[in-house]
Amino acid sequence: MFITYRWRDDFDNVEINELHPEAFDAGASERRDWPTALTEQALGWVTARDESDLVGFVNVVWDGQVHAWIQDTVVAADHRTRCIGTRLVVSARDQAAQAGCEWLHVDFEDDLSDFYVGACGFTPTPAGLIRL
Ligand SMILES: CC(C)(COP(=O)(O)OP(=O)(O)OC[C@H]1O[C@@H](n2cnc3c(N)ncnc32)[C@H](O)[C@@H]1OP(=O)(O)O)[C@@H](O)C(=O)NCCC(=O)NCCS
Repeated sequence: MFITYRWRDDFDNVEINELHPEAFDAGASERRDWPTALTEQALGWVTARDESDLVGFVNVVWDGQVHAWIQDTVVAADHRTRCIGTRLVVSARDQAAQAGCEWLHVDFEDDLSDFYVGACGFTPTPAGLIRL
């Protein structure tokens, strides 16, 4: 299996919604025009493709200056545990650094510590959240 990682790769709503209904709120995901929203709002995104199939994705949003955040990290269920998720995040980190960002943030639940802290290299830090 040869996986290709691309920054700001073209993708469409059908393939992003097929990638992982279980990873996102399916209704909200289907209503979203992903390529338009990301092109207008995101610093960028990384895709992972097995041949032409979209098998991984991460979105990188930012404040226009030095802070970037990753969101919607997802790997297709039949492609997990092969380091694709780690490579997506490392690529997002590299692209954010190249764009001049100084900090990369992520929010995650405890059970993903081994992935974000152990594999991807994030430092755990206190954070806050308010439901709106
Ligand atoms: C989380 C996710 C992106 C990881 O992708 P992946 O390609 O399977 O991850 P990697 O193969 O790079 O994993 C590297 C290491 O991270 C850890 N890890 C990976 N997935 C994990 C998970 N779901 N929970 C806890 N630790 C995990 C493991 O230590 C793993 O090493 P190992 O395979 O030697 O045990 C994938 O499981 C996924 O898409 N999950 C559903 C969506 C989701 O929860 N996204 C996160 C939103 S914050």
